[in-house]
Amino acid sequence: MTIKTAKNDYPILDQLRERWSPRAFNGQPIEKEKLQSIFEAARWTPSASNIQPWRFIVGEKGSETYKLIASTLVEFNQLWALTAPVLFLAIANKTTPKGGTNTAALYDLGQAVANLTFEASALGIYVHQMGGFDNTEAARLFDVPDNYTVATAIAVGYIGDPEILHENLKKMEISPRERRKAHESVFTGKFGQASEIFD
Ligand SMILES: Cc1cc2nc3c(=O)[nH]c(=O)nc-3n(C[C@H](O)[C@H](O)[C@H](O)COP(=O)(O)O)c2cc1C
Repeated sequence: MTIKTAKNDYPILDQLRERWSPRAFNGQPIEKEKLQSIFEAARWTPSASNIQPWRFIVGEKGSETYKLIASTLVEFNQLWALTAPVLFLAIANKTTPKGGTNTAALYDLGQAVANLTFEASALGIYVHQMGGFDNTEAARLFDVPDNYTVATAIAVGYIGDPEILHENLKKMEISPRERRKAHESVFTGKFGQASEIFD
């Protein structure tokens, strides 16, 4: 949907311009080899001390795993996410192999999800991350050990028709994506002092 293409001020990769987080999926299953590539992309993410703290629990529509993940979503997300053919949980191991705290765990998990998102984007597949779910319940349902944290639930699929959505969700689906300008996030000298890169 061209309305969702980033209105970028400087050139960026097509996968970054065209990625967005849809709420309408068309229900078409995702081919196994594409799912393999998506999680392979996550595998090659950099991580602190190469600990690779990411873990994923993946459910395809019709499976018990899918149903259980869906049951943890807040009502707002249940309104749309169940059109996705795949739901998965993104989980971080909070500990180092020596038993200490891995302070980079969530950072690295986020990078892994970013990588898989762009791999998906290159394959014409869309990813929508969700913080709106009960992560304690998700951990309980899937016997996730205490030293792991369930960070997000994620919907994956091919884009669908916004018409299938509830009225106010439909509006969000067809409105342009907004971002503050790059110079508002990129500083030099002191925090908050805009970098001259963007002058
Ligand atoms: C960690 C995280 C949690 C999110 N939680 C939700 C959510 O619970 N429900 C939802 O509809 N969208 C959720 N989103 C999607 C964001 O709202 C979306 O990425 C943001 O508005 C930017 O839109 P874009 O991804 O289309 O560029 C979440 C995104 C992230 C990264």
